[in-house]
Amino acid sequence: MNLTAESHRVPLSDGNSIPLLGLGTYADPQKTPKGTCLESVKIAIDAGYRHIDGAFVYYNEHEVGQAIREKIAEGRIKREDIFYCGKLWNTCHPPELVRPTLEKTLKILQLDYVDLYIIELPMAFKPGEAIYPKDENGKFIYHETDLCATWEVECHPYFTQPKLLEFCRQHDIVIVGYSPLGTSRDETWVNVSSPPLLKDPVLNAIGKKYNKTAAQVALRFSIQRGVVVIPKSFNPQRIRENFQIFDFSLTEKEMKEIEALNKNVRYVELLMWRDHPEYPFNDEY
Ligand code: A2P
Repeated sequence: MNLTAESHRVPLSDGNSIPLLGLGTYADPQKTPKGTCLESVKIAIDAGYRHIDGAFVYYNEHEVGQAIREKIAEGRIKREDIFYCGKLWNTCHPPELVRPTLEKTLKILQLDYVDLYIIELPMAFKPGEAIYPKDENGKFIYHETDLCATWEVECHPYFTQPKLLEFCRQHDIVIVGYSPLGTSRDETWVNVSSPPLLKDPVLNAIGKKYNKTAAQVALRFSIQRGVVVIPKSFNPQRIRENFQIFDFSLTEKEMKEIEALNKNVRYVELLMWRDHPEYPFNDEY
């Protein structure tokens, strides 16, 4: 596949296509000034990103929608140039809530459609106003759910998921890998005992050869495997840096070297919900 900044989409079986590189937009709402997400998405679109990954539960989806609409109004893009992925939150899993929840998201975005709508996590919480419902003892209130599939998978050089990737290839399923840079290492939800991905000597050494950073090597590795990546950055320089991955390619030997870094390290373990009956990370895949 010849990947370029203008053309790095992979086809989907419904006739649509998804850009291999997207901008992740989750940042701790308590620590992120209002408007940061708006500016970051606009910078990303100017830099060439055409895939934006967001969610209702990130509390900034209105800013994502505003950025896309402003760029459309400026004439820089058309709506159909953008691939937007939204997510159904845990409290809205009952089938009758799915459509109204999606409609709420469209209202927040002020867009007519999303390109992809996925189940944020396969673990349902009690439906209602509370986003993180808890009982009087502070325990999360779960909800029974009937889940067929979940489509999001952590994927990066320390968690290369060879078995899942092979299964998805056989069945023509495109994987979107979250945390492709090894997360923000926020200890409230990340397993920080695992070594930081971007400090890896092999990624840095390969980067040196191409005058690229470890982050760019990690992202290039994923897209060369056909895994869609959604690195989050709200830093203008790093947003642009993460898009500069179409002017070099990794050799087969380097791809193998990076694959060999796999440590089966899952950064996003969500241990606070490990007693949920649908907790997904005990399964082999
Ligand atoms: P920032 O928003 O300040 O750039 P992931 O996508 O794996 O969850 O990683 C996101 C984290 O990595 C964020 O903390 C983000 O911070 C940081 N990050 C994004 N791009 C880069 C980069 N090119 N080099 C180093 N850190 C990066």
